[in-house]
Amino acid sequence: MKSRILVLALTLVTALQTWAAPPAAEGKTIFTSRCAGCHSVSKQLVGPALGGVDQRHSMDWIVNFVQGSQSMIKKGDKEAVAIYEQFKISMPDHKDLSADNIKNIVAYIQEETKAAAAPTAAAPTDTPAQVDYIGFSSGNYGLLLTYAGLLVLLVGSLLFLVQVKALRRRMEQEQV
Ligand code: HEC
Repeated sequence: MKSRILVLALTLVTALQTWAAPPAAEGKTIFTSRCAGCHSVSKQLVGPALGGVDQRHSMDWIVNFVQGSQSMIKKGDKEAVAIYEQFKISMPDHKDLSADNIKNIVAYIQEETKAAAAPTAAAPTDTPAQVDYIGFSSGNYGLLLTYAGLLVLLVGSLLFLVQVKALRRRMEQEQV
């Protein structure tokens, strides 16, 4: 019984740690290994600088583009064609990256954009109204959800521990 509780507790702790890892950290790992060869946040390399990319495109568009830019260009997606016309280089498809992976990459890019932005030189923006809207729906909402989930998990694990304690006490009483 004791070892069972231990295993359960360990599983819970591991799950909690996975949950608590900030999305941007995972994004950084993927970005460094899969994107940094062609992209930087602030400088144009083989591909465009990705700082503020979430303000130029919707999150859905970014996910689709990273997973399969070629088919988007073939289908005549206006934004995709426009960038291709500019760079004339095909970006390889990353079909194995999930939407969450790509959202985490964007979270990392957002962090880096903020860190790089000097007080006066913010990333160029098109229309402020649109920027505000996208910022709220994709950025803050996701963060809020993460915190809410974390809170639920914490309260859950506390309740779980209380239950285990109560059970133990009852078992000890029965033994006497
Ligand atoms: C081999 C080089 C290469 C790699 C690797 C690469 N890209 Fe690209 N990327 C490009 C090029 C070139 C473009 C310009 C669009 C085009 O020509 O189709 C681009 C465009 C983009 C755009 C559109 C940018 C804009 O300003 O509209 C996004 C978003 C993007 N890449 C994200 C990524 C992410 C995320 C990764 C890593 C998972 C990645 N790219 C890996 C070359 C690359």
